Order: sequence, then C-alpha cells, then structure tokens
Amino acid sequence: MTTKWFKIESPADGTQISAAADILRGGGLLAIPTETVYGLGADGLNEAAVAGIFEAKGRPQDNPLILHIPSADWLARYCEDVPETAYRLAEAFWPGPLTMILKKKPCVPLRTTGGLDTVGMRCPDHAVTRAIITAAGVPVAAPSANTSGRPSCTTANHVREDMDGKIDGIVDGGDCAVGVESTIIDLTCTPPRLLRPGGLALEKLQSVLGEVALDKAVTQQLSADEKPRAPGMKYRHYAPKAPVTVVSGSPAQSGRWLCAHAPEGAGLILFDEYAPLFPQNVVRTIGPAADKAEQARRVFDALRAFDETGVSAIYAQCPDSAGLGLAVGNRLKKAAGFHTEDASDGRFVVGFTGGTGAGKTTLLRAFEKRGAYIIDCDAFYYERLRTDAALRADLNAAFPGVVDADGTLDRQRLGELVFGDAERLAALDAVIYAHLPRAAAHAAKESGAALVGFDAVKLCESGLAALCDTTVAISAPEEARVARIMARDGISCERALARIRAQKDDAAFRAQCAHVFLNDAASAEEAAIAAEQFIEQLCKQNKEDK
Ligand code: TXA
Ligand code: MG
Repeated sequence: MTTKWFKIESPADGTQISAAADILRGGGLLAIPTETVYGLGADGLNEAAVAGIFEAKGRPQDNPLILHIPSADWLARYCEDVPETAYRLAEAFWPGPLTMILKKKPCVPLRTTGGLDTVGMRCPDHAVTRAIITAAGVPVAAPSANTSGRPSCTTANHVREDMDGKIDGIVDGGDCAVGVESTIIDLTCTPPRLLRPGGLALEKLQSVLGEVALDKAVTQQLSADEKPRAPGMKYRHYAPKAPVTVVSGSPAQSGRWLCAHAPEGAGLILFDEYAPLFPQNVVRTIGPAADKAEQARRVFDALRAFDETGVSAIYAQCPDSAGLGLAVGNRLKKAAGFHTEDASDGRFVVGFTGGTGAGKTTLLRAFEKRGAYIIDCDAFYYERLRTDAALRADLNAAFPGVVDADGTLDRQRLGELVFGDAERLAALDAVIYAHLPRAAAHAAKESGAALVGFDAVKLCESGLAALCDTTVAISAPEEARVARIMARDGISCERALARIRAQKDDAAFRAQCAHVFLNDAASAEEAAIAAEQFIEQLCKQNKEDK
C-alpha cells in the first residue's frame, strides 16, 4: 500500500480536508496530528476499520482505543449517563490534552473499547484534525501512531518511520505542541481516578474535581497478576532497545550521581544544564531542568534517538512530580520498567562565586565553621594537573607538546600559549570544564561531608553550578573591594581597580546565582557575623526545603 502524504496547514484547506476525511469515511487508516502525539485514526464505529488499527500497530486486542470528537456536543451520541462533571471538565480543558472515561452507548463497538462497557473520549486541540473529524462525520478511534511498544510519535516523520506502507494516509500537521499523551481521568468511579498522567496537570484536574484518586499503575510497576484500569498501562511502553535506569532526586543530586556512576559511553538523558559535563557519553537533552513543558515535548524524541546509537545502557534524569513532571517522569519510568536509582545523597552542596576582593573567604570560613568541606577550585585544578593523567592527555591533544614524555605538564608553556588569545583560552576552558566539575563532584562524595562548598570564579561557566543544591554570589561595593585588595596584596589603587575590571561585572555574578551575599560591613568582625548569619539561614532553608 502506498501511504498518501497530506501537508495541511489550515482547517480552511477544504479540498485536502475532505480528501483526508474520505479515507476515514471509507474505512481506511489515517494518521492525524493532535497537540499531544500523532494518532492512528479510523472510524470508531466501523469494526473492520478498527481491526485495521490493531493490525497496523501490532496492538494487543484487549487494549481499548480513545474516540476523538470535535466538541463536547458529540459526547451524548456515544456515551450514556454523561455526568455534569464531564461537561465542566470539557468547558475548562477542551479542546485539550484530556481524555475522559465514560459509560459507552451500544453504538460503540466492543472491538473499539477492548470489550469494556466504558469508552475514552477526547477533543484534541488541533484545528486541522477537528476539521477532518467534522468533515468525516464519525468519531475517530485513534491510539498513538507508533508501532506498539515504541515511543509515541511527535512528528509526522516519526509516523512515517513506523507506519509507511501500512496505512492509507498521514496528515502532516507540524510537530506536536505538548509531546506527551493526554491525561486520562475515569469519571465512572468516585472519586474520579487518574489512570494516566499526561499533558494536563493533575493539579488542574483537582482544581475542578476536588479529590482525585491515583491509579497504582501511574507510579509503580504492576505485578503480572494485577490489572490496571487503563489496560494500556500494563505494557512496557516507550522502550528503547537499551535498558533504561531513571535516576531520581533533584537535578543537582542526579547530576552528582551520574558524575560518580555513569559508565563511560553510556547513553544519558539529561536536562540541558548537565550536557556539557558529560562529553564522554552519548547525550540527549530534554530541556532546562525548570522547564517541564519543554521536557514533555522532547522526552519521546530523546528515547527514540538512542536506538540508532548502539549504546548498551541508558540513564535518565527525571523531574519532580509537580505539574507536567508527573507525566514526564511516568514516561521515563515506564521506559525503564520502573527501574530507578535514588540519587538523594543527604549532602548540601553550595557553590560560591564572586569577583576578587568581594570577600568570598569570609563566607567560606563561616561555612567551614559549620563543618563544611570546601573545595577551592583553583587549587583543585592545579592538583588535578598533577594527579589526573586523562586531563593532561586532553590538554596535550588540544595543545600538542605541553605535556612532556614523562607526563609532566609545562604550566608556563600552557600559560604563554593561551595568554591574550581568546580562541585558545576557550579551548583550554573546554578541556577543563570537561574534567573538573565531575572530578569535584567525586571529591565532594569522597569527603563524606554532609556540607560541601565549591569556591569557583567560573562556577556557572564550568557547569559546576548545576551540581550545586544552591549558589551564592558574593558582592561588595567597589570601594570596599579596592581597599581589601590593596591591603591583602599590597598593591596600588589603580592596580587593584585594573584587577577588578579584568573580571566579569559584579552584576553578572549576582544574576547567575540563587542568592546574593552583600559583603558591605564596616569591619572584618561585623562581616564575619553577617556571614555566619547568612550561612545559618541558608542551611535552615535547605532543611525546610527537604
Ligand atoms: O493523547 C492521546 O491520548 C493520544 C492521541 C492520539 O489522542 N492517544 C493515545 O492513545 O495515547 P493510546 O491508545 O496510545 O492510549 C490510550 C490509553 C491506553 O492506555 C488505553 O488502555 C486507555 O487509554 N484506555 C482507552 N479506553 C479506555 C477505557 N475505556 N478504560 C480505561 N482505559 C482506557
Ligand atoms: Mg500509545
């Protein structure tokens, strides 16, 4: 069978819309775009057409399909005793990524519902697809358009990979805006029960429904004899070929865990901030740690992308379960067969940064007084140059000849090579950043200390900040910094100023960090007291956050 390709930009494209609708009316199979993932559609009232969906996907017969409709007005055609809450949810969230399980009417074949007397109803937020359904005049049964067991398709090209030659047509309606499937809520029980977390956050459902029960299959692997309420939840979905391990814990904790445990060459699914720390791995990013909507859009793409790489194991960072994090985490955990490693290490790791003379030392000493293990990253770098052969080898590859035959690094030569040369400096930084943050995380772990401080001017640029539970910029008025540098290093006011100006602006340090410590006390004693109070507050806040 040749699969027809429809590129439909707008619901006003009547000719294309009716050509696509003809396929559905004629009992054919048509892949349709939705805001969540692509669906593999057929007339949901036509048993033979529905049978074709199961065949094309290789889907188990007992796994029911969702019916897609253009508006809530169609609910009563296919559902019995529609509760008032269904209309309230539709009013609030349709069209949108929400599927409601309702009692079915006899006109909906059991083949569509996998033998159940209930049916999933959804109104997708994609104008082209709603226009096609309206033109076809039938409810469209559509599971995700992937081959059974593969990650759902979020682009028309993914659909082509899985379905070319097996179905009548594919409607290319662009990339999916949400990226994970719809949230499924069962309205046939009290309280309503969340069967699958998805593109609509649980908190939003609760805002309309009040209490919502969580089906066990959402958070746990069911045993062989347990039956989930959404039959599809029992299958090992979304599975790349290599085994997946989800690393739970905050982003900083999972980042630190991976520094210590990820095997070289393993596949990693990471938040954007962590990618530069793992040049030795095959990395797919899913968006910034704080942007769950972006993670939802990219999670399936990341899972799909490993199959071409031949990695033998995959480790994934995972968002917390608030908002869309519940759906993203659920898809990752399902890909992992719920195999997780708990990265909580009970450690409180703080990154300190700031310009020269700002008074970083005062704060570091205050942290040390509470038992913190401090890693001065400059000193740590020089130590690693002596002790880390892999770092020296990479430096020698970037700057041939800086390491001599017996393995000693010529620091002076390296200094001369990069002095005043922005490109070479960047190359040097790249080598350092590829080694140092991971080594520092390792040293922090080895210390066994519950409190750890990283002291680094390039805290953020190096990627080290991402491994910290929080970060502090130390800031001080320029006159105070000048006076401190003059007293400390016995140099003139002009030279002290020149040193300050050679560094990044004070404001830039402040902008990069979660906290700012303004070191403007009149005396050293007062500064020390202020520093101790600041550290006490920081530690207290950390305990409260936990
Ligand atoms: O976002 C979505 O929902 C996408 C797009 C295409 O709309 N569709 C989708 O369909 O994800 P599918 O078939 O891949 O997943 C539907 C899930 C399955 O886990 C199925 O078992 C469950 O919904 N389901 C369908 N009807 C049900 C019913 N009557 N009772 C309980 N679970 C049901
Ligand atoms: Mg599916």
